[in-house]
Amino acid sequence: MYHNILSLLKCPICDEKFSIDNVYQKQNDEIIDAHISCRNNHIFAIKDGVLDFNSQEQTDYNNWSKLYETTKQEEFDALIASKTPDNLKELCEKAIKNIINYLNQKKPNIIFDVATGRGSLLSILIKNLNFNPIIICTDLSYEVLKYDRIKFQNINPDLKINYIACDCSNIPITDKSIDLATSFFGISNMVDKANEGLKEVHRILLENSTFLDAAVTIEKNDNTLHYIEEVKKQFGDVPLEIISFNHTYIQLHKNIFKNVKDKCIGESIGKKNELDLIPIENEKFSIRIYQCTK
Ligand SMILES: C[S@@+](CC[C@H](N)C(=O)[O-])C[C@H]1O[C@@H](n2cnc3c(N)ncnc32)[C@H](O)[C@@H]1O
Ligand SMILES: [Zn+2]
Repeated sequence: MYHNILSLLKCPICDEKFSIDNVYQKQNDEIIDAHISCRNNHIFAIKDGVLDFNSQEQTDYNNWSKLYETTKQEEFDALIASKTPDNLKELCEKAIKNIINYLNQKKPNIIFDVATGRGSLLSILIKNLNFNPIIICTDLSYEVLKYDRIKFQNINPDLKINYIACDCSNIPITDKSIDLATSFFGISNMVDKANEGLKEVHRILLENSTFLDAAVTIEKNDNTLHYIEEVKKQFGDVPLEIISFNHTYIQLHKNIFKNVKDKCIGESIGKKNELDLIPIENEKFSIRIYQCTK
């Protein structure tokens, strides 16, 4: 974490500002090991360069600590690359290019990324920016961010990237302080907290600022509805009917943002894919970017 984001932080418990108490280790200007506390004495650690708000990883999926226990991050990246169907990969790459072009035109001062995960977006983005913003990566998982930090440092050592392990349904950032936010399937992966996540992103953005939310969407028909019912039997009450149909998911955004532009990046037919619940095999899907203005 870098000192210049301290003034943007707020305590997720009491909303007060933080100060840095003890810095045990720094690497150039980056704080690697320290404590921060608010005036009500809520104390959080910066460990391995990651500010940790003690958020708990998801249990059924994206359980990174468990996965990284047995598989090295690079092996895992290779495994995912080999198992992701080509048509999905191609559309994802197209969406990432679209986001990067937008950023390179707008050149925001701060980029806030919701649910950075293993960083499919960030690892390409940080190679291709033509300006030098402050970047904030977030995720429930401290572990995934710890590995991202090392990976991203190798990709672009010149960028100042901050890592915050937190729940994006309660973002520890003050109101109206961010001029651009991104999510590459981040909000939809918040599942039952997606709506809270959208509200939080809206809160932290400056007026008239933009949120780019990339999503995979499917169409409502008998097959997709049946599939959703089957997923619910396995994973409990996952609100896939809200976060995966374009018409319902976009409405969630429209309820919160004053303007939402629906950019369809491309469409294809789902292929066999053991990694993701969506797209569905043999069903049409699209990758979209909802460009939301506060
Ligand atoms: C598949 S990743 C998203 C893809 C990622 N943005 C990328 O570019 O590769 C989903 C991530 O969402 C994170 N996540 C889920 N719920 C969250 C929440 N409430 N707050 C923050 N992160 C969350 C998970 O821990 C997981 O790492
Ligand atoms: Zn506090």
